Amino acid sequence: MSILITGIRELVTCDDDLERADHADGLGIVRDAALVVGSAHEDVATTIQWVGPATAAPAADWAIDLGGKAVLPGFVDSHSHIVYAGDRSAEFAARMTGQGYDGGGIATTVAATREADDDTLRTLLRARVEEMRAQGTTTVEIKSGYGLSVADEARMLRLAAEVTDEVTYLGGHVLPPGTGHDAGERSAYVDLVCGPMLLAALPHARWVDVFCEPGSPHAFDEEESRAILRAGMAAGLLPRVHGNQLGPGPGVALAVEVGAASVDHCTYLSDADVDALAGACGTTVATLLPGVEFSTRSPYPDGRRLLDAGVDVALATDCNPGTCSSSSMPLMIALAVREMGMTPAEAVRAATVGGARALRRDDVGRVRVGGRADLAVLDAPSYLHLPYRVGVPLARTLEV
Ligand code: NIG
Ligand code: FE
Repeated sequence: MSILITGIRELVTCDDDLERADHADGLGIVRDAALVVGSAHEDVATTIQWVGPATAAPAADWAIDLGGKAVLPGFVDSHSHIVYAGDRSAEFAARMTGQGYDGGGIATTVAATREADDDTLRTLLRARVEEMRAQGTTTVEIKSGYGLSVADEARMLRLAAEVTDEVTYLGGHVLPPGTGHDAGERSAYVDLVCGPMLLAALPHARWVDVFCEPGSPHAFDEEESRAILRAGMAAGLLPRVHGNQLGPGPGVALAVEVGAASVDHCTYLSDADVDALAGACGTTVATLLPGVEFSTRSPYPDGRRLLDAGVDVALATDCNPGTCSSSSMPLMIALAVREMGMTPAEAVRAATVGGARALRRDDVGRVRVGGRADLAVLDAPSYLHLPYRVGVPLARTLEV
């Protein structure tokens, strides 16, 4: 089965090798384009079979005319925490009147999530994935981290694996509620995360992550974070890190040391951190999460500084009940452009192929023959309208 898609005023491919494309902005744009998507099956079109100008398009079994819209790779949201119950909108409101964020509110979500049964969590999770798809996101990474017991972490990961292949074990999110902060209790919890909890996570997870933030009394220091990442890696998981969110710290250096696919937040970086990330280009992506700075009223990360240094940059939502309750990749693009010195083209790349790199995925984030037919369409003629018409629901997943 194959489908010819025409009426594409502007096709953003993010494919640097595509012939007959405009590479001036680094987006591999084909104007007045067509696509053929298809598969060997009767009823699903899962693969891109042809990309090029409409005038050269081959025939297909079916045809769709989009009537002059922009088409992009579906957004790759490489960082989210969307398996949870409960609501922390009051915490957001308090922050808007000056209260700070240190991760302490996570305990509220842990309590609500532990109390919710599987069906309740599944319904909430699926609604959030649908909300993302309705805004153009076709790949989402999902973390645990609101269970913080062996059974509840395993449950969160099992539910996440029902909706995505990109499942991340985050038993090392914070110390669970009720844990004392003295050295003995801390190390007992780290042992649990590296031992029985990890074993329970393995059937469901691809990634291991840790909230490395020595400045927060709830999160983990460098040594604890290294132990958690190394244990996960020894068990076959791939590392990623929450680092340098609340202040300068060891997260970036640790991520580079262990060869993490991504270090996320990167809000407070030293020159040495930027150099380390530039040196790790091709291995470790700096994933920026500007919805967090918006929702915690913090300074934005300096996207321009990272791009100028030659760092691989991704944009993601971090969608979670505490630091960013928005699931909107278009909003992240607009914030990156307005607040972080990134051009619209750089922001779109970071939200698509950048996210794919952060997940070490080759089959998404670009519009390329042989890649997945995961596409976003805009009710607009150009990708420029994403930051230009901020707040307007222009993007959706193209269902074929
Ligand atoms: O990525 N920083 C740690 N974890 C999340 C926030 C989780 C929460 O506050 O519920 C983050 O920002
Ligand atoms: Fe996060």
